[in-house]
Amino acid sequence: MKKVMKITFIGVGNVGAPLADHLQKLEHSVTIAARNPNSPSVQAALSRNASFKVEPPLEAVKSAEVVFLATPFTANEAALSEVSSALEGKILVDCTNPVGANLTHGLKSERSGAEVVQSFVPAARVVKAFTIYGFENFEDNIYPGYGDLKPAMLIAGNDGIAKQTVSTLCQELGWEPVDVGNLSMSLHLEHMTLLWIQMARVQGLGSGFVWARLQK
Ligand SMILES: NC(=O)c1ccc[n+]([C@@H]2O[C@H](COP(=O)([O-])OP(=O)(O)OC[C@H]3O[C@@H](n4cnc5c(N)ncnc54)[C@H](OP(=O)(O)O)[C@@H]3O)[C@@H](O)[C@H]2O)c1
Repeated sequence: MKKVMKITFIGVGNVGAPLADHLQKLEHSVTIAARNPNSPSVQAALSRNASFKVEPPLEAVKSAEVVFLATPFTANEAALSEVSSALEGKILVDCTNPVGANLTHGLKSERSGAEVVQSFVPAARVVKAFTIYGFENFEDNIYPGYGDLKPAMLIAGNDGIAKQTVSTLCQELGWEPVDVGNLSMSLHLEHMTLLWIQMARVQGLGSGFVWARLQK
């Protein structure tokens, strides 16, 4: 039987809103952690799905089992500082990407953004996921005509049980979860993101493509 989870979103813009919407429609209990309940992104998310709960950040994170972080990378420290005490032991899904000038890695490829997120909240169980594509694929990841082959969602993290939980959410959302290893592997995922953006948005392929895994 499916486990209904209490899921909180910090950030409900292009990335957070569609993921929150799909998860709520999968009957999870979804709460928006809102600094300002009247902000345009919170109001737009509520127009899309009036069933979201909206709570102040600390309260929203306290009651969650899984927290999605979908804020601009530069806002991560501020967004996490006010809720860090409530994140102890909780799964934090890092959907953020450090993107630098001219589509370079925002941390000069010296360290992954996910490890920086982990350093802000050492007691959380960070899993990098939902980063390697543009938001259009979080709105709609249905690619007909490939039989049972599902689009791949590559995830990374240091906590195996946390990754299992995130993998289950990926499957429910129609992805094939692919565990690529420890959180340090996020650096490679962040480079995959840059490749996807280059191909989709700079070279003109458009957003309607994803990666898949074929394995013998
Ligand atoms: N866009 C994409 O295609 C894509 C794909 C994969 C990953 N990503 C990554 O996902 C993250 C979010 O991208 P996005 O395009 O969804 O951004 P976005 O549309 O600008 O949404 C950002 C969200 O973060 C909230 N926020 C901003 N500063 C905050 C703070 N200090 N504390 C709490 N919440 C804060 C905003 O709330 P307010 O409205 O209240 O300001 C808004 O809900 C980024 O790190 C990006 O690199 C983006």
